[in-house]
Amino acid sequence: MSDGNRVYIFDTTLRDGEQSPGVSLNAEEKLQIARQLARMGVDVIEAGFPVSSPGDFRAVQAIAREVRGVTIAGLARAEKLDIDTAWDAIRMADQPRIHTFIATSDIHMQHKLKMSRDKVLETAEAAVRRAKGYTPDVEFSAEDASRSDLDFLCRVIEKAIEAGATVINIPDTVGYAVPSEFARFISEIRSRTRGIEKVVLSVHCHDDLGLAVANSLAAVVAGASQVEGAINGIGERAGNASLEEVIMALSTRKDQFGKYTRIRTEEIYRTSRLVSNLTGMVIQPNKAVVGKNAFAHESGIHQDGMLKERTTYEIMNPEKVGLSHSNLVLGKHSGRHAFKNRLEELGYNLNPAELNKAFQSFKSLADRKKEITDHDLEAIVDEEIRTVDPVYSLDYMHISSGSSVVPTATVGLTRAEDKLQEAACGNGPVDAICRAIDKVTGLSCKLSSWEIQAVTSGTDAIGEVTLKITPDGERFYVGRGISTDILEASAKAYVHAVNKLIWDSEMGR
Ligand code: KIV
Ligand code: ZN
Repeated sequence: MSDGNRVYIFDTTLRDGEQSPGVSLNAEEKLQIARQLARMGVDVIEAGFPVSSPGDFRAVQAIAREVRGVTIAGLARAEKLDIDTAWDAIRMADQPRIHTFIATSDIHMQHKLKMSRDKVLETAEAAVRRAKGYTPDVEFSAEDASRSDLDFLCRVIEKAIEAGATVINIPDTVGYAVPSEFARFISEIRSRTRGIEKVVLSVHCHDDLGLAVANSLAAVVAGASQVEGAINGIGERAGNASLEEVIMALSTRKDQFGKYTRIRTEEIYRTSRLVSNLTGMVIQPNKAVVGKNAFAHESGIHQDGMLKERTTYEIMNPEKVGLSHSNLVLGKHSGRHAFKNRLEELGYNLNPAELNKAFQSFKSLADRKKEITDHDLEAIVDEEIRTVDPVYSLDYMHISSGSSVVPTATVGLTRAEDKLQEAACGNGPVDAICRAIDKVTGLSCKLSSWEIQAVTSGTDAIGEVTLKITPDGERFYVGRGISTDILEASAKAYVHAVNKLIWDSEMGR
């Protein structure tokens, strides 16, 4: 049962979000994101699809054990093995939820499931009953609901409620709905389904037509009280509803929606960055709420307006989403105490080992860059927290490149006590670096993407390289490296991705 005007936020970054092409998170990365989601105050973390792989099972289990004070959901098709496996993975959670689903549209039932309507009804009911035998909190989703026959859908939902479902989720699985239609659909479901008032009514919208957030908000107006989505809108195909946009729309336009969430909005920016860093899905600069330009004012007229009165062109205060206004913070002469204080103000509480590493990086950056901003600090900390025990680390590199020479790289890496060095030529300097690193590690990886972003402006800005490597065309490993030298950032990012590949192989993934 929903508490009046509250909208529950169900985060599926670690499940649907992880289904984004080219994204693959290991258990440690999923844990980091789950901790941050809990800190941000989401109501439910869908930690994964436990039956899908042993690696995902372990990740969901680790999250269920460690991340407290939030509901942890595991996804399961309406099948015994899926439900039993999901329960095994989440049973240690503070508040475990089994999320089971089956498709209800004719297209899916005929072509994919090859089941009659009666069979789907029976299967949905049995699945919910089985899940209910494990936990009181059971969510049922009617996949492709928005393209389902409404009468049939309502009958399936009734059966799921009778069997004990406490949350009913209506997915727009293929992002086909438009807001007015979806709102009507939700209203119809509410008025035609027996028992619907006893459960939380949820929506889960995909963004194929760019309408996922609009559809979710329209559903809230029509009575939905849980919204599912992913940070930065990642997910299958065009992605899921972008949670930060849903949250900030509800908060900024409270006058229109009259609803509230329990989200600590100041954590939004940090969560978005973490998800982007770990998934390797770079955020477009003009992305609402968390894009680099979301609060940038370029034209003279706008800047003039802003100087006179912020609200002329700013409907949200950037600090509300966790973006700090302060620019120049630290420099070469700043000490450890000032560094630690500023990090704490930014919300980072590092343990002594992390603090040491981060401080060393800060000092070496301060030698090359005069002014160190909050964004620089965030980049340093994000990098250092992730790489506490690397298999290989980069000691040095030397590049020879130009318009009339064959690009050549020499790299020096450390593995445990061993100092290793190799050189290689390549099509360009980045290619040469990757080949030289491959020679050291004995691995051969294909670089499937390479992107650079400047963390701050100016010619001494930190460059943040995000790249993906694949050893076999199926698994992908994201690496990230920062430096004022973009080739060094590339080398660090490549070594980071290779370390992840090695960790995974050692874990038998
Ligand atoms: O998009 C969808 O229908 C889903 C369900 C499993 C909820 O992701
Ligand atoms: Zn989905």
